[in-house]
Amino acid sequence: MWNALRQHHATTSDRPIADMLDADRARDFSVQTGDLLLDYSKTNIDAEARALLIDLLDRRGVAARREAMFSGAKINETEGRAVLHTALRNLDGGPVMVDGEDVIPQVRATLDRMAEFAEAVRSGAFKGQGGPIKDVVNIGIGGSDLGPAMAARALAPYHDGPRTHFVSNVDPADIATVLRGCDPATTLVIVASKTFTTIETMTNARTAKAWMGEAVADPAAQFVALSTDLEKTGAFGIHPDRVFGFEDWVGGRYSMWGPIGLSLMIAIGPDAFRAFLRGGQDMDRHFRAAEWHENMPALLALVGIWHNQVCGHATRAVLPYDQRLGRLPAYLQQLEMESNGKRVSMDGADLTCESGPIVWGEPGTNGQHAFYQLIHQGTRIVPCEFMIAAQGHEPDLHHQHQLLIANCLAQSEALMKGRSLDEARAIMAKKGLSGDELERQARHRVFPGNRPSVTLAYPQLTPHVLGQIVALYEHRVFVEGAVLGINSYDQWGVELGKELASSLQPVVEGRADATQKDGSTAALVGYLRTHGA
Ligand code: F6P
Repeated sequence: MWNALRQHHATTSDRPIADMLDADRARDFSVQTGDLLLDYSKTNIDAEARALLIDLLDRRGVAARREAMFSGAKINETEGRAVLHTALRNLDGGPVMVDGEDVIPQVRATLDRMAEFAEAVRSGAFKGQGGPIKDVVNIGIGGSDLGPAMAARALAPYHDGPRTHFVSNVDPADIATVLRGCDPATTLVIVASKTFTTIETMTNARTAKAWMGEAVADPAAQFVALSTDLEKTGAFGIHPDRVFGFEDWVGGRYSMWGPIGLSLMIAIGPDAFRAFLRGGQDMDRHFRAAEWHENMPALLALVGIWHNQVCGHATRAVLPYDQRLGRLPAYLQQLEMESNGKRVSMDGADLTCESGPIVWGEPGTNGQHAFYQLIHQGTRIVPCEFMIAAQGHEPDLHHQHQLLIANCLAQSEALMKGRSLDEARAIMAKKGLSGDELERQARHRVFPGNRPSVTLAYPQLTPHVLGQIVALYEHRVFVEGAVLGINSYDQWGVELGKELASSLQPVVEGRADATQKDGSTAALVGYLRTHGA
């Protein structure tokens, strides 16, 4: 399946991208849908490579699998579950059947309940025991944190509700820092956990309950639960009126569109939250209907496959030139790496290609003054994904935003063009150098160039645009997984560490013997116990 692509890469890899790039290529190797423009012309993909990549989609039956996902088939085979986060943003589409039942009426009823509760909190109709709610603390981890935390930061200009905080780490520093700034009598705690068993979340939830119990008569009255397990939320003491349930066909890292998004909805209001959902729905419709050669999620996935599985570039840098997308790289790390970081295919056989990429990144321009050195001159090639808005939310500072745009475009241009040895020599000669010293200094100033990047551009980071962007990345992960033959919707790789942490807790606390553990772990326990409280 990969041979033709790898051969094509072998014969074209030295070709300068810059030489191919005329206005026609900029048009032919970019795609627009809704508010988004994806430019992948600064890659080494040509028409033949693209055709071979699209051929992969047909060979792997991606269209049929896409239809199976949207229509509620149990494509998460290792857990026997449907994959229907798209149903959560199905604002005005048709029915979606799971086990013979249309799930959409329930989805919309839950959304209406969330909106009613969010409005009550925002208007002050729902009160804490010391008055209207001033702070909302979302306690959750992984998908129960990263999505809403990323989006709440991205959409800060739209916040007109109470202050929103996110606590995820079991490190007591996290919850202590957040609670220190809140008054328990006017704080609402949202316990967000699909399973309601995650040890970090449940530990932090108990800590928050004890903190609140010291100040108010009925701490549970200021708690909300977001979960699929209504028995456990009841056992924790949270009244069913303040429990927002969802079904097991929503994966944790795909769950921000439903109840897990409640903290975001309280911050920006139900209308803006619905605009976010509509952005997701718009992308769903595009992904489901567009031909592959103009299908943005499919093309983005194929660019990723080209760079990782064909060219052998193991990592991908996500570089939003949008400070408010500061948590997007972390969010995408979970989305991509928990979904496609797997070494066996759906049928249990070893993968015959690399699994999904290592995703990392930071907003520009900050990253330029940190790790871009390696991206430009290191020995490894890091395909980059730049993101840039045409305008920010600071109209008085538009000139500063233009500087941001210039930097973003300059980086992709520099990566592509590079600087030759002759050009570097000329620069050194202008500085007055000559002979061996000129030669030596010039070599340090060479940029190999021909380094690939894509750019995602959008008008402004509104709720509607953010919804399109998040759904774009979700579907990209789906396509990558389908091509690689991976089940993108389970996460067995997180289990072993959890089990070992449970068995180590009594050892760390001194209630069990460390001698059962390997020498390194036993010695570390010894050190930490000796120096502990
Ligand atoms: O440990 C991984 C994981 O299961 C993620 O997939 C999930 O998003 C996170 O933990 C939190 O799980 P929960 O929402 O059940 O607390």
